Amino acid sequence: MAYKLLFVCLGNICRSPSAENIMNHLVEKQGLSDKIICDSAGTSSYHIGASPDSRMSAAAYNKLGFKLRGEARQFQVSDFKEFDLILAMDEDNYHQIIKLDRYGEYDDKVRLMCDFCTKFTLKEVPDPYYGGTEGFHQVIDLLMDACSGLLEYVKQKYL
Ligand code: 4NP
Repeated sequence: MAYKLLFVCLGNICRSPSAENIMNHLVEKQGLSDKIICDSAGTSSYHIGASPDSRMSAAAYNKLGFKLRGEARQFQVSDFKEFDLILAMDEDNYHQIIKLDRYGEYDDKVRLMCDFCTKFTLKEVPDPYYGGTEGFHQVIDLLMDACSGLLEYVKQKYL
């Protein structure tokens, strides 16, 4: 059975689709696509059905050479069962997710994305939505670091 990762931010149009696409890129490069499955969601309903933010996609293309694919959806309680590990982009997302785990059954599955960074020391992936281009570029750099660390963690622990 494949190991399933869910990346979660607020809108599911900037940070979490970036994390999903970057992780898929790393997983494909290592030939692990049948072993690790990625998805993403938002804690809010603001952008349900929307494509990734064009500024975020431009930053991905600029830094990594690929555009972002995806369609925003909202996190749902059934995701706790469906996924093996849920990665929150910031503290607020983390608490919104934990609040939905009414009986505290799944708190071990929920982690902060930046826990897996090995180069950056930031504790959260900053929300780039209301800022400039530099913020979007920083999200990509940070997520490349976190996704690389996460992939090593999953490989060592579960594969
Ligand atoms: P994301 O960014 O959580 O990384 O997708 C945001 C997207 C939309 C909004 C805020 C953050 N918003 O307020 O609509």
